[in-house]
Amino acid sequence: MSEARETPQTIQQRKGCESIAALTAYDFPMAKLLDAAGVPLVLVGDSLGMVVLGYPDTTHVTLDEMAHHTAAVARAMPSGLVVADLPYQSYETPEEAVTSAKCLVAAGAEGVKAEGGQAILPQVEAIVAAGIPFLGHLGMLPQSVVDGGGYRIKGRDDEQREALLADSQALGQAGAFGIVLELVTPTVAAEITRLVDIPTIGIGSGDDCDGQILVTTDLLGTSPDFIPRHIRPEELLRDRMVGMIRGWKNGLAKRKP
Ligand code: KIV
Repeated sequence: MSEARETPQTIQQRKGCESIAALTAYDFPMAKLLDAAGVPLVLVGDSLGMVVLGYPDTTHVTLDEMAHHTAAVARAMPSGLVVADLPYQSYETPEEAVTSAKCLVAAGAEGVKAEGGQAILPQVEAIVAAGIPFLGHLGMLPQSVVDGGGYRIKGRDDEQREALLADSQALGQAGAFGIVLELVTPTVAAEITRLVDIPTIGIGSGDDCDGQILVTTDLLGTSPDFIPRHIRPEELLRDRMVGMIRGWKNGLAKRKP
């Protein structure tokens, strides 16, 4: 452990003072690296599905898979707050949301995230009432990507802008400790950031959120074939990794008589 442990409160206290850095981890070694770098918020995202499990999208990820990977991350005991995603269709009712959230907490999560605003408000209220810290997620919602028109930027028209503002306020009032804003137009993301008391954590939503979150493999350039537009890795570590593996393999071949 690098420093004092983060809590939802220490994350919230950064609003207006210090930008919040959040990254994903799905296993023990990555959680250790994020801890060594002092990352205050560690998300066991359901991007797990594409990044680690080879699924086409997040809708294939199960609660058991999320619990398995959350436990691996929690075993690293990072000082960053460990938040786990409630996977697709694991929070259809308030009762199911609480049962699923408790399962992730039993695996080691210190908070849970779910996608949606007013549409899942009873679920959010039930999770918060059960004493489980809740992180919202608005904008482009990967779990709805099949019905929701793909990975498109949100907030471009008045209707979307108003819905995002209303959803953000509703999540704040329901007791969420923060909101991830994914692919929201920078102007609307900035407006939400000014409107709500809780921190906004953007991904592809401009520079004016209270923090930024990335899928760690995108930051490091180790995703096998896809780099999203909002990130420019300093180096494609995957090329270096392949080079090291090839170097080792070629060295073996040379030693053979
Ligand atoms: O699943 C995930 O990694 C996420 C982040 C992209 C915010 O939800």
